[in-house]
Amino acid sequence: MLTTDAELMTEIRAKFAHVASCPFQGPRIFFENAGGALTLNSVVETSTLYASIPDNQGRDNPAAHALVATIKEAKADMALFFNAPEGQFFVGESGTELSFRLIRTAVMGTPMGDVIGSTVEHPASRSAAQHWAGLAGKPYISVPHDTATGQVTPDAYAAVMTPDVRVATILHTSPVTGIANDVAGISAAIRAVAPQAFIFVDGIQHASHGRIDIASYDVDGYVISPYKLFSRHGYGIAWASDRLSALPIETLKDGPAGNWEMGTRDTGSYATFTDVVRYFEWLGAQVSDETDPRALIEAAGAAIHDHEKALTDALLFGSGNLPGLAALDGVVILGGTDNADREGLVCFALDKVPAADIVEQLNAQGIRTHVRKADHYSGNILTPLGLSAAVRVSLCHYNTLDEVRTLLAAMKDIADT
Ligand SMILES: Cc1ncc(COP(=O)(O)O)c(C=O)c1O
Repeated sequence: MLTTDAELMTEIRAKFAHVASCPFQGPRIFFENAGGALTLNSVVETSTLYASIPDNQGRDNPAAHALVATIKEAKADMALFFNAPEGQFFVGESGTELSFRLIRTAVMGTPMGDVIGSTVEHPASRSAAQHWAGLAGKPYISVPHDTATGQVTPDAYAAVMTPDVRVATILHTSPVTGIANDVAGISAAIRAVAPQAFIFVDGIQHASHGRIDIASYDVDGYVISPYKLFSRHGYGIAWASDRLSALPIETLKDGPAGNWEMGTRDTGSYATFTDVVRYFEWLGAQVSDETDPRALIEAAGAAIHDHEKALTDALLFGSGNLPGLAALDGVVILGGTDNADREGLVCFALDKVPAADIVEQLNAQGIRTHVRKADHYSGNILTPLGLSAAVRVSLCHYNTLDEVRTLLAAMKDIADT
């Protein structure tokens, strides 16, 4: 268990940049992982190397051959990490941009019919689906989420599904509540009524919490943002099923069929993803006796989940003599206190202290969290709860119980004053 293995935790933390200190602020505890997780040192090194290389791919010289081999290796690593034996991976500008691209392709490339998505989604998928459904003249069906659990269920989709659904979108995990949805269950509910639907999944918030398994979801598109998965800013990763790639995708005329990549690729982005996969394998080897690469990744995912659960339980229910957030006066915990699908994140509001003040006071004590406001990003979650803002505490597996305890002590004072 990572929580109780201090030596391993030290080793893990040594693999990341700026773990305990911010170059702009100085010492700080990082609970803003849903805004961008810490970066692996190996990713920093790899980025520097590839940023310095002038060569393009596809030439007959040693550098170009090396770049092409790097991209090929990274794509194999992506297939391993996401457990996607078929389909293809490619990088784009960001998770949002790739979400728009996949959803646009599916909506514009299918015959007349319905598009379905849920109120729990981030605007990246929700806006894309509604925008392109509108332009295609396809009715948009909105599936309500349960505001108490912060979840949308397979039954909620099933209740409004029609056989005419051509495109469906699913949020894997919410960056506002931290609660995961049952992607395989929702996908099965969609296919039970519309077997041929193209199903898109936003995995951006889920990725750092481990345990992605595309083969088990029966979907057509999955998108992540690697800066939220220990890599760096500047690119997103998409996976597209073969049947999605067979739709009329935007690509160069007379170029290779089914090619989603737009222009010269950033080899460094691919290479840094290989670093992420090697890190998961390393972590898996520390917490299990597995040797098979996929089994190592799964072992790492399980350890990440257990550690994060221990930390979010401490945040919610307290640690030692420190009360948990759930015990504070006038508190609202988004998604509820007993939610088995919580992934490394607790978002809360107090009735007496505005969320922005809490975040400011924590910041002043070197504890970085984030305020979520009822704006176009989070209003869909906060407004139905009657909240104008909430404090998001987002963790990753390199966070420690001591860090959680520091936050709880600070929160006790803030709530008392
Ligand atoms: C679930 C989800 N979808 C979409 C996004 C947007 O990602 P990006 O800004 O990397 O495009 C985020 C960002 O945090 C997210 O958590």
